[in-house]
Amino acid sequence: MRPPIQPLLTAAEIQARVNALADAITPRLQPDVVMITLLTGAFVFAADLARALSARGVPVCLDFMILSSYGSGTTSSGSITTRLDCRQELTGRQVLLVDDILDTGTTLDFAKRLILAKGSSQLLTCVLLDKPSRRKVPVEAEFVGFRVPDLFVVGYGIDYNEMYRELPYVATLAAP
Ligand code: IMP
Ligand code: MG
Repeated sequence: MRPPIQPLLTAAEIQARVNALADAITPRLQPDVVMITLLTGAFVFAADLARALSARGVPVCLDFMILSSYGSGTTSSGSITTRLDCRQELTGRQVLLVDDILDTGTTLDFAKRLILAKGSSQLLTCVLLDKPSRRKVPVEAEFVGFRVPDLFVVGYGIDYNEMYRELPYVATLAAP
């Protein structure tokens, strides 16, 4: 069953922020950058961000990883496995890592270590949403779309049990 939701960020607010992020990221990128997106949650954000970078004259090589933490619903555990690894050779290359939500930090910390272990020479990270109050692992992103309170969010690629990814905006699960 689809639980009720409450809008949090409109499509227009998100697009304006994606453009501002692209403005901030563009001068930091090297010509050979690989943009690695963590699937599935970040796929809509990454598509918009890649096109915003393209509109600013920045070509990006796109790659993807799937990391999964055990558990479902609104909680994740601290144990992470690589379900899909990236295919680009990263040795000596700059990487722009893109994820949907920086929550406890476990996922981003794992992804950053993995990318640096593959020999990336410079790693920048960009997340759509940051929930700083939830952090358990000390990790930050260079570029953050929105800082949000400790609410469970869906939409714009982000799911609750695979529901609501298709929404063009971000919403919160309404309190029961
Ligand atoms: P972390 O490893 O605890 O930082 O969790 C990050 C991942 O947990 C995100 O990439 C999401 O996939 C998922 N996640 C965290 N908060 C939410 C939420 O509010 N809604 C949906 N997924 C979430
Ligand atoms: Mg995720």
